[in-house]
Amino acid sequence: MPTSRLSPARLPTAELHLHIEGTLEPELIFALAVRNGIALPYRDVSALRAQYEFTDLQSFLTLYYSNMAVLLTEQDFEDMTRAYLVRAGAAGVRHAEIFLDPQAHLLRGVALETCINGVTRGLADSEARYGLSTSLIAAFLRDRTAEEALDVLEQLIAMDAPIIGIGLDSAEVGHPPSKFTAVFRRAHAAGLRCVAHAGEEGGPDYIWEALDLLGVARIDHGIRAVEDEQLVNRLVAEQIPLTVCPLSNVRLRAVDTLADHPLPDMLARGLNISVHSDDPSYFGGYLDDNMAQLVSTFALDSTQLAKLAANSVRSAFLTPERCEELLAEVENWRTAQPGAKQVPGG
Ligand code: HPA
Ligand code: ZN
Repeated sequence: MPTSRLSPARLPTAELHLHIEGTLEPELIFALAVRNGIALPYRDVSALRAQYEFTDLQSFLTLYYSNMAVLLTEQDFEDMTRAYLVRAGAAGVRHAEIFLDPQAHLLRGVALETCINGVTRGLADSEARYGLSTSLIAAFLRDRTAEEALDVLEQLIAMDAPIIGIGLDSAEVGHPPSKFTAVFRRAHAAGLRCVAHAGEEGGPDYIWEALDLLGVARIDHGIRAVEDEQLVNRLVAEQIPLTVCPLSNVRLRAVDTLADHPLPDMLARGLNISVHSDDPSYFGGYLDDNMAQLVSTFALDSTQLAKLAANSVRSAFLTPERCEELLAEVENWRTAQPGAKQVPGG
């Protein structure tokens, strides 16, 4: 079957690893800067885009946090969110669980209500307008203190913020999951879902800690799990979801090139992986771009793409009804592809 005829662009998928602030496109950054009277340290959009050359996670995070300076009002957060939803709908995303970094805004003097309400306004009519269901996850910055995270979590709970869960992101090495045990204990007690970035730049030990000390339901990234056979065995046995972001890993130099990415090996070993876009405006592409590049690099077939999409749906925090609905869409997509097998390959 010629892989070029596959249409990964409309593969129905659940986006489970997406930082809303990482969807700010340079054009929108400039438009918001003009609206808010902020002077950017770049002459124009192309001068800003020229900065998107990263050597590691920190080199990206520095620009990512700096560009957030243009987000001041609820309207700014709403506009950013709507711009993402339009693009995600076009990419075939049918459900998105979206990370927001509240501390990154609080530290700039932007109130919690401003960022939460703005993003929530953008998400409110997502299903009707953009064709995808959504939910929101508050991520805590692991390079800040656990006390600060706990304080923000208490504020989110007190204001009854419309979040389904919490995550853990930002600079990984030197900030192990164990630092946040009390924060995650509190989130579990509040009935929130828990996920954490681990094994992006940190080693397999960070994944063990996220599972054993934080009780997370999913690991974000997790690609360094492949270095630890015992860990792989556990992840396979328990089918713990790993939200893998191939273009992010290339742009942040976790792998040299996409051809060096462990994704095919992870699939072959039976890990429960799915594909996501992380910070698409910074890393060269949205979910459909990630899929298209995987297809051209690894010649993934429609059965493998459908497997990745079904994994994303099963790993999402969905009702059983919505999960079944989306799994049926994935199966319809698979059987519509040229050369589709009659029986799913599993
Ligand atoms: N890793 C860690 N923290 C982040 C990322 C990421 O890729 N994107 C935004 N915050
Ligand atoms: Zn991430």
